[in-house]
Amino acid sequence: MANHSILCPFLLLLFCYCCQATTAGNQSQFFVEMKKSFTGDMLSNWDVANGSNSFCNYAGVGCNSQGYIEKIDISGWSLSGQFPEDVCRYLPFLRILRVDHNNLLGRFPNGITNCSLLEELNMSFDLLGGTLPDLSPLQSLKSLDLSSNFFQGKFPLSFTNLTNLEFLNFNENGKFDPWELPENISRLTKLRVIIFSTCNVQGKIPASIGNMTSLVDLELSGNYLTGKLPPELGNLKNLQQIELYYNALEGEIPVEFGNLTELRDIDMSVNKLTKLPESLCRLPKLTALQLYNNSLTGEIPAALGNSTTLTLLSLYENFLTGKIPENLGRSAPLVGFDLSENQLSGELPPYVCNGGKLLYFLVLENKISGQIPESYSRCSSILRFRVNYNQLEGRIPDGVLAFPHASIIDLSNNRLNGLIARTIGNAKNLSELFLQNNRISGFLPAEISGAINLVKIDLSNNLLSGPIPPEIGNLRQLNLLLLQHNKFNSSIPQSLSSLQLLNVLDLSNNLLTGNIPGNLSELLPNSMNFSNNLLSGPIPLSFVMGGLLESFAGNPDLCVPPHKNTSTTKFPLCSRDSNRKTINCLWVIGLSVGLVIVGIVLFLRRWLRKDRARTENDDTLSSSFCSYDVKSFHRLSFDQREIIESMIDKNIVGYGGSGTVYKIELSNGESVAVKKLWSRKAKDFATDDQLVLDKELKNEVDTLGSIRHKNIVKLYCYFSSLDCNLLVYEYMLNGNLWDALHGGKVLLDWPARYQIALGVAQGLAYLHHDLMPPIIHRDIKSTNILLDINYQPKVADFGIAKVLQARGGKDSTTTVIAGTYGYLAPEYAYSSKATTKCDVYSFGVVLMELITGKKPVEADFGENKNIIYWVSTKVDTKEGAYDVLDKKISGSFKDEMIKVLRIAIGCTCKTPASRPSMNEVVQLLIEADPCRRFGSCKSFNIKTNNKVDTFNITKPKEQCQ
Ligand SMILES: *[C@@H]1O[C@H](CO)[C@@H](O)[C@H](O)[C@H]1NC(C)=O
Ligand SMILES: *[C@@H]1O[C@H](CO)[C@@H](O)[C@H](O)[C@H]1NC(C)=O
Ligand SMILES: *[C@@H]1O[C@H](CO)[C@@H](O)[C@H](O)[C@H]1NC(C)=O
Ligand SMILES: *[C@@H]1O[C@H](CO)[C@@H](O)[C@H](O)[C@H]1NC(C)=O
Repeated sequence: MANHSILCPFLLLLFCYCCQATTAGNQSQFFVEMKKSFTGDMLSNWDVANGSNSFCNYAGVGCNSQGYIEKIDISGWSLSGQFPEDVCRYLPFLRILRVDHNNLLGRFPNGITNCSLLEELNMSFDLLGGTLPDLSPLQSLKSLDLSSNFFQGKFPLSFTNLTNLEFLNFNENGKFDPWELPENISRLTKLRVIIFSTCNVQGKIPASIGNMTSLVDLELSGNYLTGKLPPELGNLKNLQQIELYYNALEGEIPVEFGNLTELRDIDMSVNKLTKLPESLCRLPKLTALQLYNNSLTGEIPAALGNSTTLTLLSLYENFLTGKIPENLGRSAPLVGFDLSENQLSGELPPYVCNGGKLLYFLVLENKISGQIPESYSRCSSILRFRVNYNQLEGRIPDGVLAFPHASIIDLSNNRLNGLIARTIGNAKNLSELFLQNNRISGFLPAEISGAINLVKIDLSNNLLSGPIPPEIGNLRQLNLLLLQHNKFNSSIPQSLSSLQLLNVLDLSNNLLTGNIPGNLSELLPNSMNFSNNLLSGPIPLSFVMGGLLESFAGNPDLCVPPHKNTSTTKFPLCSRDSNRKTINCLWVIGLSVGLVIVGIVLFLRRWLRKDRARTENDDTLSSSFCSYDVKSFHRLSFDQREIIESMIDKNIVGYGGSGTVYKIELSNGESVAVKKLWSRKAKDFATDDQLVLDKELKNEVDTLGSIRHKNIVKLYCYFSSLDCNLLVYEYMLNGNLWDALHGGKVLLDWPARYQIALGVAQGLAYLHHDLMPPIIHRDIKSTNILLDINYQPKVADFGIAKVLQARGGKDSTTTVIAGTYGYLAPEYAYSSKATTKCDVYSFGVVLMELITGKKPVEADFGENKNIIYWVSTKVDTKEGAYDVLDKKISGSFKDEMIKVLRIAIGCTCKTPASRPSMNEVVQLLIEADPCRRFGSCKSFNIKTNNKVDTFNITKPKEQCQ
């Protein structure tokens, strides 16, 4: 016995010595392995060559008192490579492993399940794919974060065996097979946080979750959950946050939720919930209540007005009726308030600004009546104030138009009257002011020029009178100025010509007098309207030449200076002195009539000569005698005759979806593309096709004409007559992206393709985020991306683009099916609802084309399989991911291309909510810039027939270092 007791500690010591020696060796082996399979700057933190056991001092490494590594934290090191399959063979004492925000290509390293002491595992944002193993052996695990990867196959229901779990996050793994929350999830009684958002969960929320009383945070958003909310959730007495938005939950919100006394944050938006119980509105700590886009009926419980904690209330797009609780915000520090698109009536709640923190106040599209409360004058924190489309009446409180921080004030489409207060000049941050369709009267105060950031002003359809203040010319940002249908009775101020950014100007249907200032022609708006006023004198020649005469109709005293284009207009030709009305002597008139006649004769002779010359060598002229309506969007350097004369067969370059495309070289050396839509006469009746065609045309013209962006094809003008419809575009020398990628004639290197991707993304971001209302293109594909002389991309073909009516910060949807197979977002195919996220998806497909050089649908992918599927089958491993890249160009750009591949995969997520916005895509692309690594990359190459052209990348130098 005695021997034993001596021997045992000795043996133990020996054993420990041995195992320490082995593990020390093994432990350093871990760093050797890591350095072998990973690339990334941060690895230089590990001085492996040194060979000693100094790894305990390495960055990101933690050892216990015996010198065993128990913690590896290389979170956010931007490493790329494959993580060792069996990390705990080297590090058997590992308790904490944080390797998130790296590029761990390939599968989940299954050997991690041998880490029997592991308490925390964070592999989020690591680009991992493949299926997950049985996690049951990880019995010590308290925290598991595998969010934002690309795992697929069966969801690892074995997580229910990890009864020590306190934190569990599988957020954004939308490629799992559909799965349901298991009843026995309630075994995990220590669990405080569950995040299964965008994980392809379907079915019902099990009632047993109500037994998981440690829960503080329950997040199941962006899934396919159905059925009713179990009342048992009301037992979660520690719950602080519940996120269930974007599901298909239905029925009433259980009254038992009123028992969740710790609850602060509720978001169950975008479901089919029908009733908001009063008990919920009494929760003592409620700070955010978001239930927008549901089927809520009935009134908003008045109890919500007693809240002292509420900061965010968002209930837009429901069927709520009755009054808005009068006391809302009386004792709560409201920040955001959106009750838009309901059927609320009664008056606006007067105390919403009591907390002094309100930023967003949105109650548009309801039936609110009465006055805007005088107390709103004190809402000085407001950023956005929109109460349009209600039945508000009375005067606008002075302070409302003077909010010092507001960027949008929209009071349009009400019954407001009274004056625009001079204090409007205090609205220094205002960019959009909408007061149209009210009964506002009096003068437009000159002080409006103090609101120097104004971009859009719409005061149309009111009773404003007096002068248009010349000071308006100080609003140098102004893009849109709509003053039509008022009683303005001054002359047009000269100062308007300083509005160099003006795109839309409408002064029609007023009582404006005097001449049209000649310098207005310095402006190049997309659309201008001076019609139905009392203007007199000559229309400046440049407007006549630009085909803008229509904008001046209904001004009986206007005239047109003699010019060859003016012979057919409805306006009288000007006498020389028509702008000097005061001279009234008959002989002067006589003389000028004489001069005009001489002028006309000279003009006609010149015209006839030219005409004859033309008839002699061009027999297509007959077709040009249809009379055209012209709508132009840019200052034109050509006239319509020149276009029409050149529309002969030899100039045809293609046949588009709805017509013939001509390339026309103009006498000034430029080229334009002209799309001639099938003639109406060809069909004697307006068939359904015809109606569709006209609609298509109108869409294309209206959307494209109003857009100015370097990555969107310019529509110069539009001619229409009974039998011809012509659209004149800028000509894109290098054709479309499809031909450039798949036509086999040119080879674009990666920097060239990257430039194209970034340009298209910027164009789309502009359509989605910079326009009000935003535009969804709806048919993004490589044939609709055209390349200019420098291979810079421009998005074309808005034939089916639709203007989204976006209000209150969310997108409503449109329902005409369009798009092209292979590029079509899955949800669009079955719901036919176009959203900006559908464009993001199609853009993701184009990115994959650029990266892989493959077409969206190829026989190689398998029957009914597309490029997205094909990519997903490959990216499980690093080799697979490299294999996807277009080998003709990947060379030294592999890592940069992989970065863009990640973006493409994100863009093509099945669930629209997981796709990034186009603005985010632009940011991500900028981060993937191949110039970042290659300082020399200031140019890109295009190879054509063994010839290589080099193009400079024109952008600020800093970006390229
Ligand atoms: C939980 O662990 C047990 C015992 O190891 C195993 O039989 C069972 O399959 C596991 N459950 C799941 C869902 O994996
Ligand atoms: C919750 O736990 C109790 C007690 O263990 C049990 O009786 C009940 O069935 C559980 N409820 C659900 C819905 O699982
Ligand atoms: C929970 O709510 C229900 C209904 O509102 C109520 O009857 C019940 O007493 C509440 N339970 C607790 C524990 O407060
Ligand atoms: C608001 O609180 C007061 C004081 O506690 C109470 O008398 C009143 O009934 C409450 N109002 C509503 C609508 O619940």
